[in-house]
Amino acid sequence: MTSARANSNAARDIASVLHPYTDLLAHAETGPLVITRGEGVRVWDENGKPYIEAMAGLWCASLGFNNERLVEAAAAQMRKLPFYHAFAAKSHEPLITLAEMLLARAPVAMSKVFFANSGSEANDTAIKMIWYFNNALGRPQKKKIIGRVKGYHGITLASASLTGLPANHRSFDVPLPGFLHTITPHFYHGAAPGESERDFAARCAAELEALILAEGPETIAGMFAEPVMGAGGVIVPPEGYFPAIQAVLRKYDILLVADEVICGFGRTGNYWGSQTLGVTPDILTCAKALSASFLPISAVMVNARVFAALAEESHKIGTFGHGFTYSGHPVPAAVAIETLKIYDEIGIIDHVRAIAPAFQRALHGFADHPLVGETRGLGLLGGIELVADKGARQNYDPALKIGPRAAKLLEKHGVIGRAVPGDTLAFTPPLIISESEIAEMFAAVRGALDELLAELTREGLAPRL
Ligand SMILES: Cc1ncc(COP(=O)(O)O)c(C=O)c1O
Repeated sequence: MTSARANSNAARDIASVLHPYTDLLAHAETGPLVITRGEGVRVWDENGKPYIEAMAGLWCASLGFNNERLVEAAAAQMRKLPFYHAFAAKSHEPLITLAEMLLARAPVAMSKVFFANSGSEANDTAIKMIWYFNNALGRPQKKKIIGRVKGYHGITLASASLTGLPANHRSFDVPLPGFLHTITPHFYHGAAPGESERDFAARCAAELEALILAEGPETIAGMFAEPVMGAGGVIVPPEGYFPAIQAVLRKYDILLVADEVICGFGRTGNYWGSQTLGVTPDILTCAKALSASFLPISAVMVNARVFAALAEESHKIGTFGHGFTYSGHPVPAAVAIETLKIYDEIGIIDHVRAIAPAFQRALHGFADHPLVGETRGLGLLGGIELVADKGARQNYDPALKIGPRAAKLLEKHGVIGRAVPGDTLAFTPPLIISESEIAEMFAAVRGALDELLAELTREGLAPRL
């Protein structure tokens, strides 16, 4: 902020921090929102103002913003063994226990678990594993990876290539060659007039098959999909989508990776989004709620077929030449173990199932707001899409930044939310949220949207109904 005092957090931030996902030039004028503490579903800024964290941070702080058991788990592990690694067959108990716990909870039979630090690293790892797998099988030409337009899989070179969002590609010189994107399964915008959800799902599968055939099935190695697309707009696929997609992938021996970085650990009302959406992955990546985001950790689970090929190839080479210094770091692993125990003990899935109807009812209650084109969601995952023209299903000009403007108004009304592309406000609160907090959160959302509507009307930008 230009008015920020020289020694204020805002001034120090502007002088020193390069922020992810921020207009770096405008930031010098607008400055940061400095958060100082958290409790339950709320965080407080440096002026003492509380906010409901409607995004659980970045779709991740599943148990909210304080938890003594997780603090203790980290401290105890730090006292006992603050660091050890997994290279060259070294191991430690948190690594082994967490791998066992994940395998026991996997949505389909999985064989082994590899650990990394972030969702992006997990997805990069899965991409490299798929390449390694096909080299092991003597198919060096079978390497291309398919993502989806609006899919989000992270920002490292390979995962950003897989991501299907312009802001993650533009000026970064990605996607790299060998990454392809098939259509977004978004019924609201993508369906043809009169097309049913099932027909649209079948068309998505037909488009995928056409892409595979155009490229040559012998060149396509894998496809990545979030069960529900998160950062691309909270997009729930149409009925029958994954069974149709998977039939195509099986036909051409293409591996399917479920990116469960957002959907995993209860978000959709089952342990995994794969269970909710009927996904049977060969590889599964997860992160975020794996440790309730108290510490960074991610995981890649592979099935027996994939593992067998990796094992053969590594034996031929002499080593599996991939791993991070912090792969399976004992402290985040200990926190993840405690997190999974807490999920079991508090019955997190039952809790999500019990309160999801109230969440979804409140979310869909916005459907008739003049600014809202579509409300969509599953479990404790929801999106409210703002439009300029309800009938035509048309968004505002992106240059007007209506979504970010709505998110800013949300903050004024005491809710931290996030606008994802397509002017969709995303809602993924901590899974521990209560029904009264859901009501409080959506009451603030209504206040913010009503205020935005009044402002836009004054500016001659009222939505067409
Ligand atoms: C579905 C999905 N995959 C991968 C990622 C990347 O994870 P990270 O930011 O930890 O690298 C994200 C982050 O939001 C995500 O939503």
